Amino acid sequence: MEFRRLVTMFFGMRLPISLGQPQTSYPQVIKASGLCAGKGVFIALNKGEALRAVKDIFEDRIFGDAGDEVVIEDFLQGQEASVFVLTDGRKYRLFLPAQDHKRIGDGDTGKNTGGMGAYAPASLVTPEVMRRVEERIIQPTLKGMAEEGCPYTGFLYVGLMIDNGEPSVVEYNARLGDPETQVVLPLLKSDFIAALQASVDGTLEEVPFEMHEKSAATVVIASAGYPDRYVTGKPITISRDVAAMEECYLFHAGTAIKDGLPVTAGGRVFSVTALGDTLGESIDRAYRVVEKVGFDGAYYRTDIGAKGL
Ligand code: GLY
Repeated sequence: MEFRRLVTMFFGMRLPISLGQPQTSYPQVIKASGLCAGKGVFIALNKGEALRAVKDIFEDRIFGDAGDEVVIEDFLQGQEASVFVLTDGRKYRLFLPAQDHKRIGDGDTGKNTGGMGAYAPASLVTPEVMRRVEERIIQPTLKGMAEEGCPYTGFLYVGLMIDNGEPSVVEYNARLGDPETQVVLPLLKSDFIAALQASVDGTLEEVPFEMHEKSAATVVIASAGYPDRYVTGKPITISRDVAAMEECYLFHAGTAIKDGLPVTAGGRVFSVTALGDTLGESIDRAYRVVEKVGFDGAYYRTDIGAKGL
């Protein structure tokens, strides 16, 4: 069956692009629109792969109901960055831009994960890029939601692809991001709770919203095997020096207490954040803390933040 006919059959008039026409350029991104634990995405390099993806989703139902509808988008090239917005529905404030490291291996190799580390501010989001993000993405998004009668309040996560300084939206989330939050929030100098309250009260422009003039890096320590199968229940040791290290944070993610002692209880076990006057300093400090945390099979990337140096 022709791709265009097949898709039209499922989409009716809602298909945003005319697939199968000469103007379709590949790669195209074909996604199940429901939640698939981050696995519902095909990158079709040609028409044959696109047809197979649509067949897998619609006919073979490999994602079940999550594949009742698909989203087809142009493939975006560049580097990803995350910008978190706090809004009260009218005004908004921006946190420092961050960059996540989604692949399991150094050099962005291997499988996608929930995130193996992050740093902020992300230098690829220059003031000029941020201006474009605000004018072309954030302001129209907030304005559009308000005009449609549902002004948005709280955190908006804008996932971006930046290509030669040109930002495109990859995704929005109605939440903060992990592990970006572990670098973005420690860089907030002013009162976080006051800002949250102001976003609820509609008074965001009345409260201070200032950032430290520092950098932050966070390194995720994961269980061996993550993001595939991994074993939990491994005893954890943490050197006593960690408590004395300033501007360092050891965030527990997949940990538990068993018989009074800490053990691993998830794929991503810790996120270790450090601040520094420069990105290089924050990275060095974070890795110094990482060395003080141990459990059997502990795995972490060794190049977190290197792209920003
Ligand atoms: N770091 C990606 C996310 O939180 O969705």
